[in-house]
Amino acid sequence: MITSSSKVVVLGHASVGKSSLVLRFCKGQFFEYQEPTVGAAFLTKSIPFGNEEAKMEIWDTAGQERYHSLARMYYRGAYAAVIVYDITNKESFIKAKEWAKELHQQIPEEINIVLVGNKSDLESLRTVSFDEASDYAKSSGYIFLETSAKTGENVDDVFFSLAEKLPKT
Ligand code: GTP
Ligand code: MG
Repeated sequence: MITSSSKVVVLGHASVGKSSLVLRFCKGQFFEYQEPTVGAAFLTKSIPFGNEEAKMEIWDTAGQERYHSLARMYYRGAYAAVIVYDITNKESFIKAKEWAKELHQQIPEEINIVLVGNKSDLESLRTVSFDEASDYAKSSGYIFLETSAKTGENVDDVFFSLAEKLPKT
């Protein structure tokens, strides 16, 4: 029986779709006009873990710059981080790399990182190539996925990919 809950933090630039990904995964919902997060939001979800279930605690942080310093409170103690950028926004990819760097500097123990390129439904507006992000993730040892919170593409995989890395109790 897996009793310990497992903390996952979601980080990334403003408006990349962090809340939308978490809402899609936890509740199967999507809103065209998702409100910007203030501080952070907390959701939980039970996920299959072998023949059992594990409870994932997901901290959805606010991407607006004024909340940046709060993020540390949420990534401390997390066993995994989902770092999100928007495939139509180059700046958000640069920001994603900065988040990864900050995690390595601030967290002494190892943390599992999934790099997520969201808004894959907006292919015609893409400015970050799959290969560039994939190469970066591979060379850094991160899992990499492109997702759409809008269509649901690959969203479950982001969180399920972390299930196998859940801390054993
Ligand atoms: P902050 O809380 O301010 O950091 O933003 P966020 O990263 O949580 O982004 P949020 O989920 O609020 O989404 C921002 C906007 O992008 C909203 O209007 C969403 O509807 C839209 N959006 C999110 N994911 C997708 C997606 O996969 N495709 C498309 N087309 N739009 C998306
Ligand atoms: Mg949000």
